Order: sequence, then C-alpha cells, then structure tokens
Amino acid sequence: LYVLTEKQFLPRHEVTYPMEERGLQFGDGVYEVARIYQGTYFLLEEHIDRLYRSAAAIRLSIPFEKDVLMEKLELLREINNVKKDAILYLQVTRGSFPRNHAFPTENRPNLYAYIREMPRKTEEIERGVRTILTKDVRWEYCYIKSLNLLPNVLAKQEAVERQAFEAIFHRDGIITEGSSSNIFLVKDGNVYTHPATERILNGIVRMKVKQFCSELGIPFVEEAFSINDIAEADEMFLTSTTSSIIPIIQVEEQAVGNGKPGEVTRKLQAAYEKAAG
Ligand code: PDD
Repeated sequence: LYVLTEKQFLPRHEVTYPMEERGLQFGDGVYEVARIYQGTYFLLEEHIDRLYRSAAAIRLSIPFEKDVLMEKLELLREINNVKKDAILYLQVTRGSFPRNHAFPTENRPNLYAYIREMPRKTEEIERGVRTILTKDVRWEYCYIKSLNLLPNVLAKQEAVERQAFEAIFHRDGIITEGSSSNIFLVKDGNVYTHPATERILNGIVRMKVKQFCSELGIPFVEEAFSINDIAEADEMFLTSTTSSIIPIIQVEEQAVGNGKPGEVTRKLQAAYEKAAG
C-alpha cells in the first residue's frame, strides 16, 4: 500500500507520525472521505473543493494547488492498482511543532492520503436501518470537516451499543444530522432536511440528493424538522459517502412510516446507483 504525503508517495510502513503533531495533540486539521466505485473516484472534485473550504475556515493552507492534488490522487489510485469499491481518506494538519496552542510561525502542514477497500453496504441499502437519538453537544462550526470527532465517536458508540446503525443528533428537539451522515424525512412527497447552516456538514451526497430531487420533480425543502415530526413521517433516510443512501426504518422505538423503505427513498437510491455506475 502506498500513501501520498506532502512530500512524496511512501510505502505504508514508512509513514510515521511525530509525537508532537498538531492533528494528534489538538485535532488541528481537516479531512475528507471520498468514494471509489470499481476503481473510479466518485465526486472527487466536490470533496476536494470542500477540503479547501474547511481548510480556509481554520486558516490552514493545503500544501498543493487543487489541480496538482487531483493529479496526485489519481496517481495514488493507479500505483495502488485499485479496482474495487473503496474509500479515499485524506487529512491535512497544521504540522509538527513543539506543543503550543497558538499557530506555529512557520507554514509546514502535514498531509496524508490513502485508499482502503470498502464494499457497498448492500444489506443496509436494501433493508434499511435502526437509529437512535442523541443530544447534539458539538460546537457551532459543524460545517467544517475538522479532525475533532469526539462527540461523533461517542454518539456512534452509543448507537453500536444499542444495536443501531446510526445516532441522530438533535439540538433542543431539532434534528441536525447523524454522527457521520445527513438525515432526511419524507412527508406527503416532500423531502425535508436541515438547511446547510454552520450547524451541519453539507454532505456531498446531500447535495447530490438535492440535485436528484430537482431532476425527479421531488420538492426538496431545506427546513429543519423535529423529533415530534418523526411520528408523522412517511419515510426517512440517511446519506453519506460510505453509506450512499440508506433507508431509516426505525428511530428509537418508533417505526418510520410502515416500517419499510419507502418509495421516494427507492427513487433516490436508483438515481444514485445510476450516477455511481
Ligand atoms: N461522514 N455529517 C457528518 C457529521 C459526517 O461525518 C458526514 C460524512 C456527513 C455526510 O457527508 P458526505 O455525504 O460528504 O460523506 C454528514 C463520513 C465521511 C462517512 O461516513 O462517509
């Protein structure tokens, strides 16, 4: 396995991180996860654009120009001979310096990117999943894809321990997003989701769903919904790069709609499959 770093491509075992690394000590960095289907990147440019936006939001510079980074990621895929379904993980941190909260005076960011095989979540996509609700205790800048993921980690662990696929965050009863996904509710043929404010990560798949809705003539309403609305929902689903589009058939003890994946969700899944190839 070869890894792309800020300097060169390295075999995996040669990638070692210093003790005083700002990503490790402060979570001072940003990241992206992009999909690869059958050896081809899916929506890579959208992910890279978001990476630059996240970096700008924390005043971090990415060590490559966008087109150079895109070329290097293409090369990464080639030298690793990726042919299957996989993910690309890429992170950039403010670098390695003697520990001090304030920015280092020198600009020396660290970057690494690697590819890991990951099959499609066929069973969940087909059958749908159970979810739980948990309090959104995160900071106010969730639109930045930062390395600070402790609230997300704790929420996902709670889900796993309660035999659920995802934990859905709510702020005072208002659904924001999942621990690693965006959340949607379907009612009377309309798709509702939290607006892309600073309180959520504007998912790449979320933006794709918005496009599919417009192409399919499905009203896409960027209006937050509450826990109380779930009882009245016809369908719910979640989206993320690793998950694509997965029906939510249960929230806590409440079945969603008739407890089966719904018609609108199926249409959007079909549109996604067509786009992903
Ligand atoms: N999840 N919200 C959060 C908090 C996330 O971590 C993610 C991504 C999303 C969905 O964004 P996108 O559609 O761009 O993947 C929303 C990781 C990367 C994942 O599970 O794929």
